[in-house]
Amino acid sequence: MSTLTRKKTVAASIADTEDPESGLKREMGALQLTIFGVGVIVGTGIFVLTGVAAAEKAGPAAPLSFVVAAIVCGLAALCYAEFASSVPVAGSAYTYSYTSLGEIFAWIIGWDLILEFAFGAATVAKGWSGYFSRLMEDLGINLPASVVGQEASFNVPAVVIVAIVAAVLIVGIRESSRMNIVVVAIKLSVILLVIALGFFYVKSGNWTPFIPESQPGAAGQGFDETPLIQEILGQPTSAFGVSGIFFGASLVFFAFIGFDIVATAAEETKRPQRDLPIGIFASLIICTILYVLVSLVVTGMVPYKELGSPEAIGAPLAYAFKVNGVDWASTVISIGALAGLTSTVLILMYGQSRVFFAMGRDGLLPPWLSKVHPTYKTPYRITIITAIAVALLAAFLPLKVLGEATNIGTLFAFVLVAIAVPVLRKSQPDLERPFRTPLVPLIPILAVLACLWLMLNLPIGTWIRLAIWMAIGFVVYFGYARKHSRLNRSGSDDGPGTGGPAPTAGAAD
Ligand code: ALA
Repeated sequence: MSTLTRKKTVAASIADTEDPESGLKREMGALQLTIFGVGVIVGTGIFVLTGVAAAEKAGPAAPLSFVVAAIVCGLAALCYAEFASSVPVAGSAYTYSYTSLGEIFAWIIGWDLILEFAFGAATVAKGWSGYFSRLMEDLGINLPASVVGQEASFNVPAVVIVAIVAAVLIVGIRESSRMNIVVVAIKLSVILLVIALGFFYVKSGNWTPFIPESQPGAAGQGFDETPLIQEILGQPTSAFGVSGIFFGASLVFFAFIGFDIVATAAEETKRPQRDLPIGIFASLIICTILYVLVSLVVTGMVPYKELGSPEAIGAPLAYAFKVNGVDWASTVISIGALAGLTSTVLILMYGQSRVFFAMGRDGLLPPWLSKVHPTYKTPYRITIITAIAVALLAAFLPLKVLGEATNIGTLFAFVLVAIAVPVLRKSQPDLERPFRTPLVPLIPILAVLACLWLMLNLPIGTWIRLAIWMAIGFVVYFGYARKHSRLNRSGSDDGPGTGGPAPTAGAAD
């Protein structure tokens, strides 16, 4: 048992991840954190999934789905911020849990984060491809449906964007904070254009009824449509109605993913106790307001059912303008979306390679994976493997399946993090906590319940995939990782912190 909970010391973790050139020590304030947060968060969730949520789950009540998802994220964020700030090393929940909870928990979280980052990157790449084909159509170039769009049997643009992003990550071009500000400006301009211009094309009739009556059978049948909660309650599979708002929330939760990456900036922040919560909550609140307005406007511009049509589903924001005859806006939105989504793919793939890198350096994955490139000093092997996996996922799997797998993985990680907060308060009361979650254990309990609730509103198929994924994770852990762990080889909890150099490329830094 004790090997399962062996811990890496904070000193060893710091020695492993310290890299004077990575820019990690730059001092961020609340404003920079907020800009960073908005840059990470805005992506396929609002640009693409809004349409799916309205057409298939919630109808015009999709804005309420965004509000529900935002509340769940707010609760999780309060826990994530303490967890991230209590372990003064760079990295993700994987790194923090290795020093605080022990190896098996770190493994579970690290393995689970692959769902968040790799599946998330594939989802966003797929969203990118939707806007790419919309743009091509606007320019009069019609590409065959078998290689572009949501019905494609092999999605070529999604694979191309993943390859480009991988090349950028390998060469180690950073998304500097100035670059980040430009990308945020583009994303916000596009979103504000949708809201301000779209407002004039709203037909209030499209909003009535605001919450369409629950429709059994409307969601289709089968594992990928039936939310687990309906199966448990023995209800027929339905869409819309009040429960549709929650089905929608469990899908558009994707739109908020990324605020947890803001929490990982804890030790780059001047005054974490003040700035971290401001940064996280300001970006969450800004995104929530924008998302609610965008989804209101879009469901007002187009009857919600139409947003599910093959022409609309890949790029609903651009489509809404196209059918209203505002072609130039459709084109501008598509170009802005392509720029904005590229940066989101980059951040997620970077996050993935960073988690893999840390796991490889700790010996939980084969160490040759973590080798850095002699010239570029980036973990190129991991980046290539990540890119191949992400490209295959994006090429073959449907957007909804990818997005829902990302959501369940992320929600599961949030559940574990929320549980860890009160557990660590008991087991390590003296750990320095630059940010403290208020009202412990009430907030962590509410966070766990809220995340579980959204998970229950996801389809059965998504749960089965999570179970299979975690089962594979256990096989790898007990078959390989446990034996090869660097802590195993050093024979104690206090393994010397001598790993390879940390990767230097990165967006999240
Ligand atoms: N929240 C990010 C998006 O919507 C991951 O693309």
